Amino acid sequence: MTHVVAEPCFDCKYTDCVVVCPVDCFYQSEQLLYIHPDECIDCAICVPACIVGAIVEERDVPRDQRPFIQLNAELSAAWPRLPKGKPPPPDAEEWDGVLNKRRLLER
Ligand code: SF4
Ligand code: F3S
Repeated sequence: MTHVVAEPCFDCKYTDCVVVCPVDCFYQSEQLLYIHPDECIDCAICVPACIVGAIVEERDVPRDQRPFIQLNAELSAAWPRLPKGKPPPPDAEEWDGVLNKRRLLER
């Protein structure tokens, strides 16, 4: 079991999750963050830290967000670790709540 970064993170990237994670298991692409499933210890501390509600325990990921389980596993191995928090993109608030952002995913 692991935790998963799902679609609400897309282009928001507030990184409060990174600040609280005790094992530094977040990785970042240009568009969103990913949790490495083999490194996450399932402490759940990051869940309330994310103000857009992007982080979900794997078994609780909603049906329409299930592809993000595989995306976290695959892309956490492909992108660099983000060891500490950073300021969000300047347009982060505009992306909060936008639906179907995943169509914009670039690998
Ligand atoms: Fe890190 Fe815990 Fe969140 Fe896993 S559940 S990503 S270990 S803060
Ligand atoms: Fe993304 Fe939320 Fe972390 S927006 S970067 S999962 S705090």
